[in-house]
Amino acid sequence: MQAAARAQPNIALIKYWGKRDAALNLPAVGSISITLDALVTDVDIAFDEAFADDELGVNGEPREDLLPRMAGCLDSVAGPGRPRARIVSTSNFPIGAGLASSASAFAAATVAAAAAAGADLTTAALARLAGRASGSAARSLYGGFVELANAGDGIVVESMLTAADWPLEVIVAITDSSPKPVSSGDAMERSRRTSPFYSRWVDDQAHDLDVARTAIAARDFEALADVAEHNCLKMHSVMWTSRPSIVYWNAATLDCLAAVRTLRGKGTGVFFTVDAGPQVKAVCLPEDATRVRDAFESIDGVAETLRSGLGPGARLRDPE
Ligand code: PMV
Repeated sequence: MQAAARAQPNIALIKYWGKRDAALNLPAVGSISITLDALVTDVDIAFDEAFADDELGVNGEPREDLLPRMAGCLDSVAGPGRPRARIVSTSNFPIGAGLASSASAFAAATVAAAAAAGADLTTAALARLAGRASGSAARSLYGGFVELANAGDGIVVESMLTAADWPLEVIVAITDSSPKPVSSGDAMERSRRTSPFYSRWVDDQAHDLDVARTAIAARDFEALADVAEHNCLKMHSVMWTSRPSIVYWNAATLDCLAAVRTLRGKGTGVFFTVDAGPQVKAVCLPEDATRVRDAFESIDGVAETLRSGLGPGARLRDPE
């Protein structure tokens, strides 16, 4: 009873922020994302009746602190009466720092756990289960451009375009890879309870999703750039106006945004987005990616850049 899976993080262009049901981890708003290819999380899971307890290793270290959430994910896939598990997760990029490592880890864990438990589930069903553990993980079950929609008392996740249909690139500027001060789950709840902008954020989302859907269908980079930057800044405005305020950015984050604005003003095909962390993700036309990376690398406080194309959804792989 063992299996191995691989998944890539995804970056939301129209963001998820806030839950409509905390117990079921259902998002308050729909979202649209792109799945990356160069950032990778591999998860190996073995179930065995002989194991007394679950054990989780992340990047070679035992991580008791991350175990409850992972065990909950395995319970929802294989049932709470499942055998105990050895889970080994390895990512080739910093985890817990706003680079969507929970999305790739829980997407891969869901796929591996289902296979190890002998459950034959559709991708749609796997996406719903991954979303129970991490809202954004549901989107990493699919590659390319992905929409997560609220539907009835659940979610529906669908592929909009494959990576090959519109092969954009992403440059990530890492400005601080230490773990984030407030988890995205806690921060969302704080925003829901205290930000005066929260309900307006939720109400406006359908419009932003419509605009992004049309832009993606038409491969209209400029239109997608406008709505994605606007949606990102709205999400961070909700965070900043929460009490106590949630500010994930640092000086280099702002310098990267300014650099993207300058490049865009000169006709470079690039726009920014920022998640629950200080890293800046620049989505680029492929011919402009090197220019964007060079601009980020000249900024004080940018420790490292990562470059990625768009990639596939979570899938099984041969065990180590
Ligand atoms: O899935 P979570 O709980 O890590 O939340 C992700 C929230 C954002 O990354 C900020 C936005 C998004 O849609 O991915």
